[in-house]
Amino acid sequence: MDNNTTHTPDKAESEIRALREELETQKALWRELVESVPAGVMVLDSKGVILQLNRNATGMFDIEARNCVGRHYSEVVPRDVGEAFDKALAGISRNGYVINMPLRHWVDKAIEINLGLNATLFDADGKPKVVIVCHDRTAVTELERLRTLDIQKTESVSRAAHELKNPLSAIKAYCEVLAEMYDPDDTETGFVKGVNEETDHTLRLLAELLNVSTIESGQLKPSLDEIDLADVVRNTLYSIDMTNTKHRLVLRSEQDMQPIVGDALMLREVITNLVSNAIRYSPDGGDIIVQIRREGRGVRFDVIDHGLGISKEHLANIFEKFYRVYNPEHNDIPGSGLGLAIVKGMVEAHRGSITAESAPGEGSKFSVLLPVSRAFDEFAREQSAMEHQPFA
Ligand SMILES: Nc1ncnc2c1ncn2[C@@H]1O[C@H](COP(=O)(O)OP(=O)(O)OP(=O)(O)O)[C@@H](O)[C@H]1O
Ligand SMILES: [Mg+2]
Repeated sequence: MDNNTTHTPDKAESEIRALREELETQKALWRELVESVPAGVMVLDSKGVILQLNRNATGMFDIEARNCVGRHYSEVVPRDVGEAFDKALAGISRNGYVINMPLRHWVDKAIEINLGLNATLFDADGKPKVVIVCHDRTAVTELERLRTLDIQKTESVSRAAHELKNPLSAIKAYCEVLAEMYDPDDTETGFVKGVNEETDHTLRLLAELLNVSTIESGQLKPSLDEIDLADVVRNTLYSIDMTNTKHRLVLRSEQDMQPIVGDALMLREVITNLVSNAIRYSPDGGDIIVQIRREGRGVRFDVIDHGLGISKEHLANIFEKFYRVYNPEHNDIPGSGLGLAIVKGMVEAHRGSITAESAPGEGSKFSVLLPVSRAFDEFAREQSAMEHQPFA
């Protein structure tokens, strides 16, 4: 007989002790794991008697662990939770599991929490148990509610904008007829001009609102043309009216830029918005520099000004719709706070990104990074593959 496999009573005892210790360590580890998961966990026997629960479960259901173990759940959990457990157990006996069953529980009259309940059957040792795991979905549900509200708000704004567009276009047409009826020196001509300018301004605002609602509804789809970004930038800068400004536009572009795939009209709007901001928010004039260069797998263009600049606290918000920086010395600078939200939406529709750097009193730099054609082609392929995927 091999001596190594001989089991003396002492050896067997120490092996059992080692196994027991190992078992205790494993149990402690499991307890720790169950305590640390960000969910409420409860284990019931086949009759609904609570065998185990973690701290999160006591918090979620407002119960005390030591008073619960060994009792039927219906005696300890609040009524709304108990009813949900009844349903979950019925689901378990039908299917063997329940996934993400919504459970709304009022902690008190003012606080409601939204839970997602999962339940599974555990039957490895011949003593069936039900493991219930509840996730707190309150924050997610609130976020979804706010998102839905925001979408509804944007939709009503968009409907109102559409309704207003036609009468305003008619007012504009009447202004043009009236302008021809009066002499340029007549007082009435000044009035008509004023009405015309205000109508233009309101029509521009409506166009911006409609743009925002298209972006937010995910309907903004850039055309996929191969374009020379340097050409688009150059042509856009030529079209900007500089007659009444103290600024100078400077274009710096690398030679032989790779073409990008995108929508020239949309990118034109992006550049116009950024350059007109650079002009508008540099009331003392100065150079506005637009520079284009390759960067990584993309093309980058920067719009740089030496104007008012933006402080750090505002910089984080300027891409939000309607966000404007209040500046008591320059509160006469007009704007609706929509331009950068539209710019961001258009850049992202191109799979690009936009960032801003700024220092108050020194100026700002807005940088747009766009993928070159190959990267964008891949994106377009991915998109069309996703669109054609059958539902699982
Ligand atoms: N180049 C810049 N320099 C300093 N501040 C800027 C600059 N660009 C934008 N801002 C600040 O960010 C805010 C948001 O800009 P955004 O273009 O979205 O709106 P807006 O210019 O106010 O109105 P509009 O819808 O007519 O563009 C501006 O109100 C301004 O305070
Ligand atoms: Mg603007």
